[in-house]
Amino acid sequence: MGNVILIGFMGCGKTTVGLRLSYRLRKAVMDTDKEIEKEEKRSISDIFAADGEAYFRDRETECLRKLIVTAGNQIISVGGGLPMREVNRELLHQLGRVVYLRAKAETIYERLKHDTTRPLLQGENPQDKIRTLMAQREENYAKAADVIVDVDGKDFEQIISEIEKQL
Ligand code: S3P
Repeated sequence: MGNVILIGFMGCGKTTVGLRLSYRLRKAVMDTDKEIEKEEKRSISDIFAADGEAYFRDRETECLRKLIVTAGNQIISVGGGLPMREVNRELLHQLGRVVYLRAKAETIYERLKHDTTRPLLQGENPQDKIRTLMAQREENYAKAADVIVDVDGKDFEQIISEIEKQL
């Protein structure tokens, strides 16, 4: 089957779904955010604070280019903003089957309202920010996806079996 890539908004469950899917499909799992943090030896928040978002976005594209060469049969979860660049969407398609975990803004807010690790949501009104970003991003997520799974109100078992069915 090759690589399976999980995309979607922050907090949609990519990391957890990735782990569970890796057990189920017996494939290794990796995450582009974690890969970038490892290479940079600092957190995403520190990268944003010191070098800005544009620098981070370039690191994401670089990470995808490396994966095209190295990854063959893995589950790969990617940062929520990664599919916004057209070049990244092309690289995602080259890399494997792309699964979009679609969640409602309310679901995301409930999950992330106490989170401090997402620099884009640390402002005054995270609820508004989630809605705005989501509206801006939806089209590109859908464009990047081979498969779309709605996650609201579902447990991980249901999500995993839907992905398996659709892959
Ligand atoms: C981002 C999502 C984060 C991380 C960074 C930016 C985004 O990843 O890459 O904070 O722009 O949506 P998760 O989707 O894993 O939270």
